[in-house]
Amino acid sequence: MPKFEHHIFICQNTREIGHPRGSCNSDGKSELLKRFKESVKKYGLDGKVRSNKAGCLDHCEHGPTVVIYPEAVWYGGVKAEDADEIVKSLVESKTVGRLKLKESCINTPTCEHKPKKSS
Ligand code: FES
Repeated sequence: MPKFEHHIFICQNTREIGHPRGSCNSDGKSELLKRFKESVKKYGLDGKVRSNKAGCLDHCEHGPTVVIYPEAVWYGGVKAEDADEIVKSLVESKTVGRLKLKESCINTPTCEHKPKKSS
């Protein structure tokens, strides 16, 4: 079996309503994951691109959050209707600039969107 060319990790973490960190799958319905799976089929990428359910990706403040490997392209504020555009961008070897997280926000405690810790 050939290797997957891309893995799309879609945060599916659900926290209780009102949690200070929020969550990417707040209603627990996994609509975003479903839409990515549908988009992968639509573009004929079964076996090449895999949509993976992920737990919290520690970018809750940017959620719903999606990351694509091996490119390590991070997207935030992703809506179900964005799935087609993101999957299509893989076909075209492009990215969706309007949804990409800024480099200064990725895996850094100095991200301007991180909640400030109270002392
Ligand atoms: S809940 Fe999705 S990144 Fe944390």
